[in-house]
Amino acid sequence: MEVLRTVTELRQWSRLSRCTAASTIGLVPTMGALHAGHASLIRAARASCSHAAVSIFVNPTQFGPREDFARYPRSFDADCALAASEGAHVLFAPAVDELYPNGPDSTFVEIPCLSNRLDGASRPGHFRGVATVVAKLLIASEPDRAFFGQKDAAQVAVVRRLTADLRLAVEIVACPIVRDPDGLALSSRNAYLTPAERGRALILSRAIRQVESLVAQGERRAAMLIASAHGVFACEPEVRIDYVALVDWSTLEPVEIAVPGTLFAVAAWAGSTRLIDNSILN
Ligand code: PAF
Repeated sequence: MEVLRTVTELRQWSRLSRCTAASTIGLVPTMGALHAGHASLIRAARASCSHAAVSIFVNPTQFGPREDFARYPRSFDADCALAASEGAHVLFAPAVDELYPNGPDSTFVEIPCLSNRLDGASRPGHFRGVATVVAKLLIASEPDRAFFGQKDAAQVAVVRRLTADLRLAVEIVACPIVRDPDGLALSSRNAYLTPAERGRALILSRAIRQVESLVAQGERRAAMLIASAHGVFACEPEVRIDYVALVDWSTLEPVEIAVPGTLFAVAAWAGSTRLIDNSILN
Protein backbone atom coordinates (compact mmCIF):
# COMPACT_ATOMS: atom_id res chain seq x y z
CA MET A 1 0.00 0.00 0.00
CA GLU A 2 1.34 3.37 -1.05
CA VAL A 3 1.04 6.45 1.21
CA LEU A 4 0.25 9.64 -0.73
CA ARG A 5 0.63 13.10 0.76
CA THR A 6 -0.41 15.50 -1.99
CA VAL A 7 -3.53 16.13 -4.05
CA THR A 8 -1.38 15.89 -7.19
CA GLU A 9 -0.25 12.38 -6.20
CA LEU A 10 -3.83 11.32 -5.45
CA ARG A 11 -5.05 12.71 -8.77
CA GLN A 12 -2.25 10.88 -10.64
CA TRP A 13 -3.02 7.61 -8.83
CA SER A 14 -6.70 7.97 -9.70
CA ARG A 15 -5.97 8.57 -13.40
CA LEU A 16 -3.47 5.66 -13.58
CA SER A 17 -5.93 3.37 -11.78
CA ARG A 18 -8.41 3.87 -14.58
CA CYS A 19 -6.19 1.77 -16.84
CA THR A 20 -9.04 -0.32 -18.26
CA ALA A 21 -12.70 0.38 -18.95
CA ALA A 22 -13.56 -2.04 -16.14
CA SER A 23 -11.47 -0.22 -13.49
CA THR A 24 -13.43 1.34 -10.67
CA ILE A 25 -12.28 3.40 -7.72
CA GLY A 26 -13.69 3.26 -4.20
CA LEU A 27 -12.87 5.97 -1.66
CA VAL A 28 -13.15 5.56 2.12
CA PRO A 29 -12.82 9.01 3.75
CA THR A 30 -11.81 8.83 7.43
CA MET A 31 -10.24 10.88 10.19
CA GLY A 32 -8.04 7.93 11.21
CA ALA A 33 -8.10 6.12 14.58
CA LEU A 34 -9.40 3.28 12.46
CA HIS A 35 -11.49 0.53 14.04
CA ALA A 36 -13.57 -2.43 12.86
CA GLY A 37 -16.24 -0.05 11.51
CA HIS A 38 -13.69 1.53 9.17
CA ALA A 39 -12.39 -1.95 8.27
CA SER A 40 -15.90 -2.86 7.11
CA LEU A 41 -15.95 0.24 4.86
CA ILE A 42 -12.59 -0.71 3.30
CA ARG A 43 -13.85 -4.28 2.75
CA ALA A 44 -16.99 -2.91 1.07
CA ALA A 45 -14.83 -0.74 -1.19
CA ARG A 46 -12.59 -3.68 -2.08
CA ALA A 47 -15.62 -5.91 -2.75
CA SER A 48 -17.23 -3.55 -5.25
CA CYS A 49 -14.32 -1.62 -6.78
CA SER A 50 -11.09 -2.71 -8.45
CA HIS A 51 -9.10 0.00 -6.64
CA ALA A 52 -9.57 1.25 -3.08
CA ALA A 53 -8.24 4.44 -1.50
CA VAL A 54 -8.49 5.35 2.18
CA SER A 55 -8.03 8.96 3.28
CA ILE A 56 -6.92 9.93 6.77
CA PHE A 57 -7.31 13.59 7.60
CA VAL A 58 -8.41 15.09 10.91
CA ASN A 59 -10.31 17.94 9.32
CA PRO A 60 -9.98 21.09 11.45
CA THR A 61 -12.92 22.89 9.82
CA GLN A 62 -15.52 20.41 11.09
CA PHE A 63 -14.57 20.95 14.76
CA GLY A 64 -15.99 23.84 16.80
CA PRO A 65 -13.65 26.07 18.82
CA ARG A 66 -14.35 24.18 22.07
CA GLU A 67 -14.40 20.71 20.51
CA ASP A 68 -11.82 17.93 20.52
CA PHE A 69 -9.70 18.67 17.42
CA ALA A 70 -6.42 18.81 19.40
CA ARG A 71 -7.05 15.62 21.35
CA TYR A 72 -8.81 13.63 18.59
CA PRO A 73 -7.10 10.20 18.64
CA ARG A 74 -4.28 9.89 16.10
CA SER A 75 -2.71 6.47 15.44
CA PHE A 76 -1.13 6.71 12.00
CA ASP A 77 1.08 3.58 12.10
CA ALA A 78 -1.72 1.33 13.35
CA ASP A 79 -4.09 2.90 10.79
CA CYS A 80 -1.65 2.13 7.95
CA ALA A 81 -1.38 -1.47 9.13
CA LEU A 82 -5.17 -1.87 9.27
CA ALA A 83 -5.79 -0.24 5.88
CA ALA A 84 -3.06 -2.39 4.27
CA SER A 85 -4.35 -5.59 5.88
CA GLU A 86 -7.86 -4.86 4.52
CA GLY A 87 -6.40 -4.49 1.03
CA ALA A 88 -6.46 -0.72 0.45
CA HIS A 89 -4.26 0.20 -2.51
CA VAL A 90 -3.40 3.71 -1.33
CA LEU A 91 -3.68 5.77 1.79
CA PHE A 92 -4.02 9.52 1.29
CA ALA A 93 -2.80 11.44 4.36
CA PRO A 94 -2.34 15.12 3.51
CA ALA A 95 -1.16 17.91 5.80
CA VAL A 96 -3.70 20.62 6.68
CA ASP A 97 -2.25 23.21 4.27
CA GLU A 98 -2.37 20.67 1.42
CA LEU A 99 -6.19 20.64 1.63
CA TYR A 100 -6.57 24.24 2.84
CA PRO A 101 -3.81 26.12 0.96
CA ASN A 102 -5.48 29.47 1.71
CA GLY A 103 -6.13 28.66 5.35
CA PRO A 104 -9.27 30.27 6.78
CA ASP A 105 -9.78 32.20 3.51
CA SER A 106 -10.49 28.95 1.66
CA THR A 107 -13.63 28.29 -0.37
CA PHE A 108 -16.30 26.47 1.63
CA VAL A 109 -19.27 24.30 0.68
CA GLU A 110 -22.47 25.09 2.55
CA ILE A 111 -25.73 23.16 2.43
CA PRO A 112 -28.10 25.58 4.14
CA CYS A 113 -31.15 23.31 4.19
CA LEU A 114 -29.29 20.60 6.15
CA SER A 115 -26.55 22.40 8.02
CA ASN A 116 -28.59 23.24 11.14
CA ARG A 117 -30.34 19.92 11.55
CA LEU A 118 -29.49 17.14 14.05
CA ASP A 119 -25.73 17.32 14.74
CA GLY A 120 -25.57 20.61 12.86
CA ALA A 121 -27.88 22.20 15.44
CA SER A 122 -25.54 21.48 18.35
CA ARG A 123 -22.30 21.71 16.33
CA PRO A 124 -22.57 24.96 14.32
CA GLY A 125 -20.35 24.85 11.24
CA HIS A 126 -19.77 21.09 11.52
CA PHE A 127 -21.55 20.08 8.32
CA ARG A 128 -20.00 23.00 6.42
CA GLY A 129 -16.58 21.57 7.33
CA VAL A 130 -17.62 18.02 6.45
CA ALA A 131 -19.14 19.03 3.10
CA THR A 132 -16.07 21.07 2.22
CA VAL A 133 -13.51 18.40 2.94
CA VAL A 134 -15.56 15.61 1.36
CA ALA A 135 -15.97 17.74 -1.79
CA LYS A 136 -12.19 18.25 -1.92
CA LEU A 137 -11.53 14.52 -1.50
CA LEU A 138 -14.11 13.54 -4.14
CA ILE A 139 -12.88 16.10 -6.66
CA ALA A 140 -9.24 15.02 -6.18
CA SER A 141 -9.81 11.26 -6.32
CA GLU A 142 -12.81 11.06 -8.70
CA PRO A 143 -14.08 7.79 -7.23
CA ASP A 144 -16.96 5.76 -8.64
CA ARG A 145 -18.17 5.08 -5.10
CA ALA A 146 -17.46 6.58 -1.70
CA PHE A 147 -18.15 4.64 1.49
CA PHE A 148 -19.45 6.13 4.75
CA GLY A 149 -20.68 4.59 7.99
CA GLN A 150 -24.42 4.76 8.62
CA LYS A 151 -23.57 5.68 12.24
CA ASP A 152 -23.09 9.25 10.97
CA ALA A 153 -26.46 9.16 9.23
CA ALA A 154 -26.91 12.95 9.05
CA GLN A 155 -23.44 13.19 7.50
CA VAL A 156 -24.54 10.66 4.85
CA ALA A 157 -27.54 12.90 4.06
CA VAL A 158 -25.24 15.93 3.77
CA VAL A 159 -22.81 14.10 1.47
CA ARG A 160 -25.62 12.75 -0.72
CA ARG A 161 -27.07 16.24 -1.08
CA LEU A 162 -23.61 17.67 -1.82
CA THR A 163 -22.96 15.18 -4.61
CA ALA A 164 -26.43 15.68 -6.08
CA ASP A 165 -26.18 19.49 -6.02
CA LEU A 166 -22.63 19.58 -7.42
CA ARG A 167 -23.51 16.88 -9.98
CA LEU A 168 -20.54 14.73 -8.90
CA ALA A 169 -20.60 11.34 -10.62
CA VAL A 170 -20.10 9.26 -7.50
CA GLU A 171 -22.34 6.80 -5.71
CA ILE A 172 -22.51 7.34 -1.94
CA VAL A 173 -22.69 3.99 -0.15
CA ALA A 174 -23.82 3.90 3.50
CA CYS A 175 -22.49 0.79 5.27
CA PRO A 176 -24.19 -0.77 8.32
CA ILE A 177 -23.26 0.33 11.84
CA VAL A 178 -20.69 -1.99 13.44
CA ARG A 179 -21.27 -2.59 17.16
CA ASP A 180 -19.39 -4.07 20.06
CA PRO A 181 -21.03 -7.32 21.29
CA ASP A 182 -22.88 -5.37 24.02
CA GLY A 183 -24.45 -3.04 21.42
CA LEU A 184 -22.27 0.09 21.65
CA ALA A 185 -21.80 1.53 18.14
CA LEU A 186 -18.10 1.68 17.27
CA SER A 187 -16.65 5.19 17.21
CA SER A 188 -13.14 6.56 17.45
CA ARG A 189 -14.46 8.73 20.30
CA ASN A 190 -15.34 5.66 22.41
CA ALA A 191 -11.64 5.80 23.39
CA TYR A 192 -12.46 8.87 25.54
CA LEU A 193 -14.96 6.98 27.72
CA THR A 194 -14.06 5.87 31.24
CA PRO A 195 -15.27 2.32 32.06
CA ALA A 196 -18.24 3.80 33.98
CA GLU A 197 -19.18 6.15 31.10
CA ARG A 198 -18.87 3.31 28.62
CA GLY A 199 -21.34 1.29 30.68
CA ARG A 200 -23.79 4.21 30.76
CA ALA A 201 -23.32 4.84 27.03
CA LEU A 202 -25.09 1.53 26.30
CA ILE A 203 -28.32 3.47 26.90
CA LEU A 204 -28.08 4.85 23.34
CA SER A 205 -28.30 1.43 21.69
CA ARG A 206 -30.96 0.37 24.22
CA ALA A 207 -33.12 3.32 23.17
CA ILE A 208 -32.59 2.39 19.52
CA ARG A 209 -33.58 -1.25 20.15
CA GLN A 210 -36.66 -0.16 22.10
CA VAL A 211 -37.85 1.99 19.20
CA GLU A 212 -37.10 -0.75 16.65
CA SER A 213 -39.12 -3.18 18.72
CA LEU A 214 -42.09 -0.78 19.02
CA VAL A 215 -42.01 -0.26 15.24
CA ALA A 216 -41.94 -4.04 14.77
CA GLN A 217 -45.09 -4.18 16.94
CA GLY A 218 -46.80 -1.65 14.65
CA GLU A 219 -46.22 1.70 16.38
CA ARG A 220 -45.60 4.42 13.78
CA ARG A 221 -46.34 7.69 15.64
CA ALA A 222 -43.23 9.81 16.10
CA ALA A 223 -44.48 11.28 19.38
CA MET A 224 -44.91 7.80 20.90
CA LEU A 225 -41.57 6.50 19.60
CA ILE A 226 -39.67 9.55 20.83
CA ALA A 227 -41.41 9.49 24.22
CA SER A 228 -40.53 5.85 24.62
CA ALA A 229 -36.85 6.53 23.83
CA HIS A 230 -36.86 9.36 26.40
CA GLY A 231 -38.24 6.82 28.89
CA VAL A 232 -35.27 4.54 28.22
CA PHE A 233 -32.79 7.41 28.63
CA ALA A 234 -34.44 8.28 31.97
CA CYS A 235 -32.91 5.06 33.37
CA GLU A 236 -29.44 6.61 32.93
CA PRO A 237 -29.84 10.20 34.22
CA GLU A 238 -26.11 10.89 33.99
CA VAL A 239 -26.29 10.59 30.21
CA ARG A 240 -27.47 13.94 28.86
CA ILE A 241 -29.62 13.83 25.73
CA ASP A 242 -28.66 16.16 22.89
CA TYR A 243 -31.43 15.03 20.55
CA VAL A 244 -33.86 12.17 20.02
CA ALA A 245 -35.37 12.54 16.57
CA LEU A 246 -37.40 10.83 13.90
CA VAL A 247 -36.62 12.43 10.54
CA ASP A 248 -36.73 11.91 6.81
CA TRP A 249 -33.22 10.57 6.00
CA SER A 250 -32.68 12.85 3.00
CA THR A 251 -34.11 16.17 4.25
CA LEU A 252 -33.46 15.55 7.98
CA GLU A 253 -36.86 17.15 8.60
CA PRO A 254 -38.92 15.76 11.48
CA VAL A 255 -41.72 13.40 10.49
CA GLU A 256 -44.91 12.63 12.41
CA ILE A 257 -45.28 9.06 11.16
CA ALA A 258 -42.45 6.58 10.60
CA VAL A 259 -42.36 4.92 7.19
CA PRO A 260 -39.80 2.45 5.81
CA GLY A 261 -36.50 4.32 5.50
CA THR A 262 -37.28 6.89 8.23
CA LEU A 263 -34.21 7.73 10.33
CA PHE A 264 -34.48 7.40 14.10
CA ALA A 265 -31.40 9.11 15.56
CA VAL A 266 -30.07 9.94 19.00
CA ALA A 267 -27.15 11.97 20.31
CA ALA A 268 -26.16 12.16 23.96
CA TRP A 269 -23.31 13.06 26.26
CA ALA A 270 -21.63 10.42 28.42
CA GLY A 271 -19.38 12.60 30.58
CA SER A 272 -17.66 15.00 28.18
CA THR A 273 -18.02 12.64 25.19
CA ARG A 274 -20.78 13.22 22.67
CA LEU A 275 -22.01 9.95 21.12
CA ILE A 276 -24.49 9.29 18.32
CA ASP A 277 -26.43 6.23 17.19
CA ASN A 278 -29.38 5.54 14.89
CA SER A 279 -31.53 3.08 13.05
CA ILE A 280 -33.09 3.21 9.61
CA LEU A 281 -36.56 1.92 10.43
CA ASN A 282 -38.25 -0.70 8.27
O1 PAF B 1 -16.80 10.60 9.29
C1 PAF B 1 -15.66 11.08 9.30
O2 PAF B 1 -14.69 10.44 9.72
C2 PAF B 1 -15.45 12.49 8.80
O3 PAF B 1 -16.53 13.33 9.12
C3 PAF B 1 -15.13 12.57 7.29
C4 PAF B 1 -16.29 12.06 6.45
C5 PAF B 1 -13.90 11.74 6.98
C6 PAF B 1 -14.87 14.01 6.87
O4 PAF B 1 -13.79 14.55 7.58
